[in-house]
Amino acid sequence: MTYSDYEQAVRNKLKDKRFIHSVNVANQAEELAKRFGADPNKAKIAGILHDITKQDNSFEQLQTIINGGIILTNVEKCSPNLYHAISGSVYIRQNLGVNDEDIIHAVRYHTTGRAGMSLLEKIIYLADLTSADRDYPDVDRMRRIVRQDLDEGMRESLRFIIPDLIERKLLLHPDTIEAYNEYFLPLLAAEN
Ligand SMILES: [Fe+2]
Ligand SMILES: [Fe+2]
Repeated sequence: MTYSDYEQAVRNKLKDKRFIHSVNVANQAEELAKRFGADPNKAKIAGILHDITKQDNSFEQLQTIINGGIILTNVEKCSPNLYHAISGSVYIRQNLGVNDEDIIHAVRYHTTGRAGMSLLEKIIYLADLTSADRDYPDVDRMRRIVRQDLDEGMRESLRFIIPDLIERKLLLHPDTIEAYNEYFLPLLAAEN
């Protein structure tokens, strides 16, 4: 399947607003891939697919996750905002025939991040936060940082997201904490 086949598959599953967001993430991911030496076509495909199951209801998503042989942790069960990343990674493998593990992981970890993220995983995570449709107060600063340094972009986003989750009384996924520690450890190690 080509990029436009994947785009059509996403078009069939998402309402206009989310579809436009997905196209914007695909474009931003392609640009970041060109800048940082990743495969632009893979980045564009992972970008268009990242939210493909976002509008499936929780029951459908849990069914997809079970069909994929994934057993959720208690933290994941109690974090419906994470379902679509996990169900999306199963859906693209089972329904669209995606077998590129890097694309599958980029979809799976686009909400939590994790330690040891590949270049493509970082690109999708950060493209999602800096796509053209994003309009939170700090977005232009984030876009500048991400264009310069993906790891610095990861640090900035994790530094913002963890307190935000706490403020909203949501759970912290261990992958997010491990990502945070991994990205901040070199800075502290340099000081000590
Ligand atoms: Fe998402
Ligand atoms: Fe998204």
